[in-house]
Amino acid sequence: MTEEQIGKAALLLRQGGLVAFPTETVYGLGADASNPAALKRIFAAKGRPADHPLIVHIADMSDLKNWVAEVPRAAWLLAEKFWPGPLTMVLKRAPHVNALISGGQDSIGLRVPAHPVAQNLLRAFGGGIAAPSANKFGRLSPTAAEHVRQELGAAVDMVLDGGNCEVGIESTIVDLTRETPAILRPGRISAQQIGDALLAQLGENGLDRPRVPGAMASHYSPLLPLKLVHPDQIETYVRQHAGTAIAVLARRGRPRDSKAALWQVAPELPDDYARTLYAALRRLDDSGCRMIVVEDPPQLPEWVAVRDRLVRAATPEPVQVPAAKVG
Ligand code: TXA
Ligand code: MG
Repeated sequence: MTEEQIGKAALLLRQGGLVAFPTETVYGLGADASNPAALKRIFAAKGRPADHPLIVHIADMSDLKNWVAEVPRAAWLLAEKFWPGPLTMVLKRAPHVNALISGGQDSIGLRVPAHPVAQNLLRAFGGGIAAPSANKFGRLSPTAAEHVRQELGAAVDMVLDGGNCEVGIESTIVDLTRETPAILRPGRISAQQIGDALLAQLGENGLDRPRVPGAMASHYSPLLPLKLVHPDQIETYVRQHAGTAIAVLARRGRPRDSKAALWQVAPELPDDYARTLYAALRRLDDSGCRMIVVEDPPQLPEWVAVRDRLVRAATPEPVQVPAAKVG
C-alpha cells in the first residue's frame, strides 16, 4: 500500500466519498463520520435500513472524547488492554453525533482497528471513519478486497487492498452503557477476556441480546441455504437429500464413499476456522451446488463466535406445526 493511495483515499473521504479498507476483522465500507451525505451513501450502497447504527473507527483511544458523552473507567481499561484491536465499545454518545451513526439511539459504537492500512488511513484522514462491513445488507462480510469489488462494485469509490483479514469475523461488541457490561456480538476477544480485564462479571445472557439490530436471525448469510449438521450425521443428511448437489464444510476429511458433490476441509482450531470461514462460504456459494452443509462446531467457549455466525447463517428447518385440535 503506497502513501499515495492512502492520500487519495483520505481525500476521497474528505470529499464525501466511500472508501473500502481492510481491518484485522473484515473489510469496512468507510465514510467521513461527520458528513451526513456521505453516511447516507453507506446505507444506500449496502441496502441497509437506517435504524442500524454504524461503528465509528478512530485512530487512537485519545479520540474517544470527540464522540462520547463520558468515558467510563471500564472503557479506559478495555481500551488499554485491547486497542488497537478487534473490540468495539458501545458508549453514551456525544450530543453532536449524527443520528445516522447512532441509529436513533443515545449510544455510539467505537473501535480502534489494528490493521496498518486502517491505521494509516485514519491518521491521513484525521477524523472518525464510520464503517460497517463492506457487504450488502445481511450477507457475508468481506475478508478480501476482491469480495468487496464483487459485491459492491461501482458503489464504492475506492477499495484499499490489504490482503486477507487476519481475524476473519467481525469485532467483539461490548455494551458499556448499562450498569453491567454485556457482550452484544461475540468475536475473537472472548467474554472471558473482557470479564478478566474488567474484573467483573458480564451481564447474564449478554451473549444473545437482540439489542444489536445486526443481530437479527438472518445475518451473515451465504446465498445458498445452509444447514448445520452434527458431524456424525453429515453423510446421512447428504444421502437423505440425494437429489440435491450438496457442498460440505467440515473439519474432518471427506469419507471415501461420501455422496457430497463437494467437500471442503476447514481448519481444526477456532481462530484459523474463523479466519477462513467467510471466504470458504463464498467459494461454496459459487460452486454450482444447491445447498451448503456445515459441520456443527463444538459447544465450547472458544467456538462461541464461530457458532454465532454459523447459527445466524443457517436456514431454520421448517417448523412442523401440529394440527390444531378441534373442539
Ligand atoms: O469488525 C467489525 O466490527 C467491522 C469492521 C469493519 O470494523 N464492522 C462491522 O460493522 O462489523 P457492521 O456495521 O457490519 O456491524 C456493526 C454492528 C451492527 O450490528 C450494529 O447494529 C452494531 O454493531 N452497533 C453499532 N453501533 C451500535 C450501538 N450504538 N449500539 C448497539 N449496537 C451497535
Ligand atoms: Mg455487517
